[in-house]
Amino acid sequence: MIRIHVLGSAAGGGFPQWNCNCRNCQGVRRGEIKATARTQSSIAITSNQTDWVLFNASPDIRIQVESFAELQPARALRDTAICAVVLIDAQIDHTTGLVVLREKGSPLPIYCTELVYQDLTQGYPLLSLLEHYCGVGHYPVPVTGESFRIPGADDLEFTAVALTSEAPPYSPRRHNPQPGDTIGMRVTDTTNGKNLFYAPGLGRIEPQVQRYLAEADCVLIDGTCWTNDEMVRQGISRKLASDMGHLAQSGEAGMISVLQPLSRPRKVLIHINNTNPILDEDSHERAVLHQAGIEVAYDGMDITL
Ligand code: MLT
Ligand code: MN
Ligand code: ZN
Repeated sequence: MIRIHVLGSAAGGGFPQWNCNCRNCQGVRRGEIKATARTQSSIAITSNQTDWVLFNASPDIRIQVESFAELQPARALRDTAICAVVLIDAQIDHTTGLVVLREKGSPLPIYCTELVYQDLTQGYPLLSLLEHYCGVGHYPVPVTGESFRIPGADDLEFTAVALTSEAPPYSPRRHNPQPGDTIGMRVTDTTNGKNLFYAPGLGRIEPQVQRYLAEADCVLIDGTCWTNDEMVRQGISRKLASDMGHLAQSGEAGMISVLQPLSRPRKVLIHINNTNPILDEDSHERAVLHQAGIEVAYDGMDITL
């Protein structure tokens, strides 16, 4: 059995974002819209109910651990239930929490691609920094389709798939991303055959991605923006969702049109940007998702496969 716990369901910045007065952020702060605050993007997965693999380490990891008893120390004076960290890219909102984990008394086992490792030791040298604290056990994630295992997560098999998205601003490959800058991950429970496909940053649906989606029992997938120009229209940024490597939900070739025909998986959007109208539970857009059979992840959501 795979158990997935959503620690943080928002995109970078969280919801509300500290400096934002958009309709959603102001609305949730003042209690004027039906919406729930969300921390930044991370999930935890277990198969044995004891050892958890952390997918991404968000800047909010400290409060996320404090909000979820099962990740907390229980067996020794200093302890954690996190047996490894998998990074799906080198973005700030997915990696900065590693600094918060620096008190670990032994090297943190970190699974990431070679390109993510490069960015995290060069443009944003977090892993080099950690060498002065707990140290890093670096395990390369292949993007050639081979599966791998993580000690502690005994019944789980992991398979990465290279996604087309964007590399982070501090990467030398910013607008020329290569396979491995962003990955999606299939996590399969080898005891019951069920699998999750997790892809919080996804700019384009390629044929191999379509296959991972169709074969999944649950997809937790990029829900950053409703429309490609949402941040531009709200006067918040000049960036389109596509400039940041995210596929918008609405529109002819949007995420809804990709997900709706899939009959097998439970479909859940994650990594929701604070500008996205779906955060307002009374919105028309939220009703459209509901009708399409698509859920919106929230902090604390727990899924068992
Ligand atoms: C992204 O995935 O594009 C990020 O959420 C951006 C950020 O962290 O600023
Ligand atoms: Mn992000
Ligand atoms: Zn906002």
